[in-house]
Amino acid sequence: MILLLPAAYSLLVLVLLPMPTGGAPTAPTLAGCNTSCGNLTFEYPFGIGQGCFRQPNFELTCLHGNHLQPPSLFLQGGTQVVDDIVVSSSDDNNVPSVSVSMSDTISVVPGVDVYNYTWTYPESFFPLYATVQITGCDFDVYFIQYNESMLLCNITCPNEIFTEGEAKKNCNGTGCCYFSFSTSFFDLQFVRHNKTESHSSNNSLWNSIQLSLYSADLGWSIVDQPSCSSALDKQTSYACVSTNSSCLNSSSTYFGYLCSCDSGFAGNPYISQGCSRDKGNSIIPKLYI
Ligand SMILES: *[C@@H]1O[C@H](CO)[C@@H](O)[C@H](O)[C@H]1NC(C)=O
Ligand SMILES: *[C@@H]1O[C@H](CO)[C@@H](O)[C@H](O)[C@H]1NC(C)=O
Ligand SMILES: *[C@@H]1O[C@H](CO)[C@@H](O)[C@H](O)[C@H]1NC(C)=O
Ligand SMILES: *[C@@H]1O[C@H](CO)[C@@H](O)[C@H](O)[C@H]1NC(C)=O
Ligand SMILES: *[C@@H]1O[C@H](CO)[C@@H](O)[C@H](O)[C@H]1NC(C)=O
Ligand SMILES: *[C@@H]1O[C@H](CO)[C@@H](O)[C@H](O)[C@H]1NC(C)=O
Ligand SMILES: *[C@@H]1O[C@H](CO)[C@@H](O)[C@H](O)[C@H]1NC(C)=O
Ligand SMILES: *[C@@H]1O[C@H](CO)[C@@H](O)[C@H](O)[C@H]1NC(C)=O
Ligand SMILES: *[C@@H]1O[C@H](CO)[C@@H](O)[C@H](O)[C@H]1NC(C)=O
Ligand SMILES: *[C@@H]1O[C@H](CO)[C@@H](O)[C@H](O)[C@H]1NC(C)=O
Repeated sequence: MILLLPAAYSLLVLVLLPMPTGGAPTAPTLAGCNTSCGNLTFEYPFGIGQGCFRQPNFELTCLHGNHLQPPSLFLQGGTQVVDDIVVSSSDDNNVPSVSVSMSDTISVVPGVDVYNYTWTYPESFFPLYATVQITGCDFDVYFIQYNESMLLCNITCPNEIFTEGEAKKNCNGTGCCYFSFSTSFFDLQFVRHNKTESHSSNNSLWNSIQLSLYSADLGWSIVDQPSCSSALDKQTSYACVSTNSSCLNSSSTYFGYLCSCDSGFAGNPYISQGCSRDKGNSIIPKLYI
């Protein structure tokens, strides 16, 4: 398992987004907005349907269907959300994040040896951490950054009948490998070993490269202004609308900002009156028996 360290990689440039229209959201105006999908909950600035989310890429989709039990929640572009979305952040450098999963398949074409892959996630989001599992046969996996490549793993298969199930069982480099990364970039390159060989085999392990991302976290920030100071200058678009809330520069992106309830308050700083007196453990000590 290879863990790439975050600091050196976390430079990210986001495109400025159009300003959201309308005034500050209040609990009543959001009253018609759903805050759950299946067993998952979420809250403003995320939402489903017009008027329920702050910026276009915070629009969620809930898919229902007989084959989807419970219903499934998605960010734009088909990235699946796999845990509750909690928007409050505290000023301890805690970047709020959305837990997601993703899977993708690259078809292996005879005669083509190099395959580039970039994980596309919605704008305003950036990968914080992920574990990726890669299955396939006979190729090297590289992580690409600033024109430099770093070998992550070398996948080989023993024979034509080796199956995906066997490969995934140990995921030890035989038909499968996995690694974790912690970076704002996600560019991979797959280079096949045997440049001439063409497999007539019907075995999906030989015909494709499959990626699946799990325990993946996407950080996010409000990006219609690059920092707290410019957001405060342009009050019309200021996201921290609750009383007793304040702005935090988004430290891991160097772009955009976040909102948090002031010390002693808790709740949702993105909606008017969203932060209220924290009646929790700071006042009444909890007894653990
Ligand atoms: C909320 O979601 C439920 C089912 O998940 C749906 O029936 C209902 O119409 C939704 N309400 C709104 C206001 O979108
Ligand atoms: C939601 O349900 C799925 C499938 O039943 C389960 O795997 C997952 O842990 C649940 N998530 C939460 C946040 O309860
Ligand atoms: C793959 O990426 C490498 C460098 O990152 C580049 O030189 C090459 O042209 C790319 N290949 C394709 C098919 O895009
Ligand atoms: C990447 O390499 C190409 C060709 O060698 C060069 O033109 C380009 O400036 C390099 N980019 C970076 C970010 O180093
Ligand atoms: C990966 O292993 C294959 C077969 O053992 C070998 O041909 C290839 O050179 C190795 N790749 C690297 C980068 O070491
Ligand atoms: C790796 O996994 C494969 C199949 O999953 C198994 O046959 C092989 O013995 C394992 N190798 C090692 C070194 O554990
Ligand atoms: C590469 O493929 C050729 C043709 O199928 C085969 O004869 C050769 O043994 C292969 N080489 C390796 C290192 O797998
Ligand atoms: C591929 O495999 C499927 C079952 O896994 C089989 O039905 C089909 O006939 C096979 N096709 C070829 C071209 O071997
Ligand atoms: C919370 O906000 C209210 C309304 O703006 C203000 O009067 C009060 O002083 C604030 N409380 C604290 C502890 O900042
Ligand atoms: C946020 O970042 C801006 C620009 O980088 C800086 O001027 C400002 O002092 C920072 N504000 C806080 C609260 O850290």
